[in-house]
Amino acid sequence: RLPEPFTLPGTVPAVLAPYRSDQTADYHQVTQRRATATILPGYRTDIWGYNGQFPGPTLAARHGRTAVVTHRNELDVPTVVHVHGGHTPADSDGYPTDYLLPVAGTTAMLARDPQAVIARGQRDHTYPNDQLAATLWYHDHRMDFTGSSVWQGLAGFHLITDEPEQALPLPRGDRDLPLMLCDRAFDARGRLAYPAQDPTFLHTPGVTGDYMQGVQGDVILVNGVPWPRYDVAAARHRLRWLNASNARVYRLRLDTPHRQAPGFVQIGSDGGLLDKPQHLDAIDMAPSERFDTVVDLTGYRPGEQVTIVNDLGDGTTVPVLRLRVTHTVDDTSAVPDRLVDLERLDPAHAVRTREMNFRMGKMTAMDGSTQDKGWLINGKPFDPQRADATARLGDLEIWRITSDFNHPVHVHLNQFQVLSRNGRDPRPTDRGWKDTINLDAGQAAEIAVRFTDYTGRFLLHCHNLEHEDMAMMANLTTTL
Ligand code: C2O
Ligand code: CU
Repeated sequence: RLPEPFTLPGTVPAVLAPYRSDQTADYHQVTQRRATATILPGYRTDIWGYNGQFPGPTLAARHGRTAVVTHRNELDVPTVVHVHGGHTPADSDGYPTDYLLPVAGTTAMLARDPQAVIARGQRDHTYPNDQLAATLWYHDHRMDFTGSSVWQGLAGFHLITDEPEQALPLPRGDRDLPLMLCDRAFDARGRLAYPAQDPTFLHTPGVTGDYMQGVQGDVILVNGVPWPRYDVAAARHRLRWLNASNARVYRLRLDTPHRQAPGFVQIGSDGGLLDKPQHLDAIDMAPSERFDTVVDLTGYRPGEQVTIVNDLGDGTTVPVLRLRVTHTVDDTSAVPDRLVDLERLDPAHAVRTREMNFRMGKMTAMDGSTQDKGWLINGKPFDPQRADATARLGDLEIWRITSDFNHPVHVHLNQFQVLSRNGRDPRPTDRGWKDTINLDAGQAAEIAVRFTDYTGRFLLHCHNLEHEDMAMMANLTTTL
């Protein structure tokens, strides 16, 4: 019932057109609704989609031009939308209890939070896009239910471009491919199978059985298509990888039957372009990380192909996608040795060091009962009303993060830089501006971060979405 890998044509999500633009801003409307999609050939699959699409439409923004997005909720569950990696004012950032209730009534459980701003039907989010060119994404962030909402399809790209990026001769147009990678499981009738405690996704949060490690699937989707094949020119291609999986970590590698595999040239990370490109034979990518890469197929002949495989997969989760060269072209693109000027955060200027320990421990549930295990930050499960880290805008901070398991640690509001891992130099894949760092069991890392511009309540959390839903989140409050 599963398609043969590399038989379905690869696609790229459509770009959202503004319904209105003025001097400073573009205005968009997005409706969150149920739809059916053909994901597995021969089956109709119910999804939740931004504009009924999975992935949602791509928001393409220019540096410094505000995007106002009116989200309308026509689903039958509350939602919360967050732009991941966005430098966004608190009231538009999608705090997990800032619920957008459906147009039609719901009796969903809402987490208690006196500070929450609850809207019904529709609400605006304002994104200043006052940040570097980067591959960001938007996804649902509803308290206790992020894993199931993203699994049903609530995820899309938010791309920002700027002048320094436009000035580079990088591949563009149909040779600039945002690629959303996620794994899903389907039942015998082709429906998305998420092991929710409560199949209505309304009342009881969490997953059945033992999903402490997160939920994975056996089908690898790229932009919503199982193991697609992209027919491409013999040219350089910009492949912008996003791992939108709930819990799966990938090690992507290029495989070529007759030649030496070209490898990836990494040009950007989560928060923007690197100062200079670097060659990587493989890319380790945890949930929510992005790797902006160029793959050089110049000199390939029609009929030749390159397969991207996942070395951490097993069986059906090894193949990812294939690039099949169909024609030759004149390619004038290039990857210059210097890309952009990158500000380097100097830890010598840090005003404080914080400890953030991501580990399992005993926890007390919202109803007061004690559970023997939960995923905690500094020994505590998430509580919207507790201040965990309060940072002054403009201060440079060092965070020392430790981990007992594989936890992709994500910080809202500003991008950070990785200073060290286990006291040693960061990995090559830690370079550039990051908003997520993947820690392995027993690892410690130091990051440098400076919060700017917006005061209010933000988040830091594990981006394994089931860990997140099991309360592995903490408040980041910024003040003047
Ligand atoms: Cu991608 Cu707080 O999330
Ligand atoms: Cu985790």
